[in-house]
Amino acid sequence: MAVVLVTGGAGYVGSHACKALARAGHTPVCVDNLRTGWRDLAAFGPFEQVDLMDAGALENVFGKYKPDAVMHFAALSLVGESVARPDLYHRVNITGSLNLLDAMRAHGVAPIVFSSTCAIYGEAGDEDLTEDRPMAPESPYGASKLAVERILSDYEAAFGLRCAALRYFNVAGADPEAEIGERHDPETHLIPITIEVALGERENLSVFGKDYPTPDGTCVRDYVHVADLIDAHILALDKLMAGESGIRVNIGAGRGYSVAEVAEAVARVSGKPVATVDAPRRAGDPPRLVADHSRATAVLGWTPTRSALDVIIEDALRWRVSPRFAA
Ligand code: UFG
Repeated sequence: MAVVLVTGGAGYVGSHACKALARAGHTPVCVDNLRTGWRDLAAFGPFEQVDLMDAGALENVFGKYKPDAVMHFAALSLVGESVARPDLYHRVNITGSLNLLDAMRAHGVAPIVFSSTCAIYGEAGDEDLTEDRPMAPESPYGASKLAVERILSDYEAAFGLRCAALRYFNVAGADPEAEIGERHDPETHLIPITIEVALGERENLSVFGKDYPTPDGTCVRDYVHVADLIDAHILALDKLMAGESGIRVNIGAGRGYSVAEVAEAVARVSGKPVATVDAPRRAGDPPRLVADHSRATAVLGWTPTRSALDVIIEDALRWRVSPRFAA
């Protein structure tokens, strides 16, 4: 059983990773600056409030816990915001990762599972994205993640780092036990916002662009359940611990839904109406991002089991109305 240092472990995806690691018998050490994370979500092992920009403090955490592996979730991750603040996105996402990698080197830690993104790919038209697609990020967020992937490859070649970069599509849903889930302030993501409309907490959903070259004119995304995404992390960790490296795989459900289809699905699952209003396109949004995840199946043995859209929405809704959401 391993000690796994989890950066961003108090955030949405990171907290689900900590829960799964603890359940698998590992010790997750949560490292989070709590800028967008939540202390109460870091409930599955030791917690250290540390910012990855603080190399000295990070170094101390490595000395204290002597991790066997790292899962690296901590990052700024909003596509729209990154267009306005490329300075912040590049500084935080790249420097934070470099500090982490250098602490790993200094302490002889080799395995790292890194949260990458489909936002590193360029325009794909109607095709599902394979890992061989050209890299051409449309946002500073995607560019910062691509830069870190390249650094990881260089560290693998030069220093014996062993990395799995998981290229997430749109993560959604919540812990099926509703113990933890997504809590952003302010919320910007489609499914939680649409749920707020259904719950009467928001007047309507702004649909960002209805003139995209997609069947109904709204953007198409591949929504993957956070529980499935975390399964991929555990499988990747096992591979790295067994000595593998150089894993680069897409983690998406392999099926796309438009913004309009998501609004309909939330109305159907919740039994409540979802009012929409037309709004301009949001900067940095590609029309269609859908995964071909066959490499993840071949390399990790991963197949999604909870990523049907209605299941994602049911789980997100259950968390959203649970007392723990408001805690
Ligand atoms: N959208 C709306 N109205 C809203 C919110 C979102 O129409 O109020 C649309 C967006 O324009 C987009 C789709 O819903 O077309 C999904 O938007 P999200 O903000 O939920 O997710 P993104 O696709 O922008 O971003 C997410 C993650 C990123 C990741 C990216 C990859 O936040 O970290 O998926 O596509 F890189």
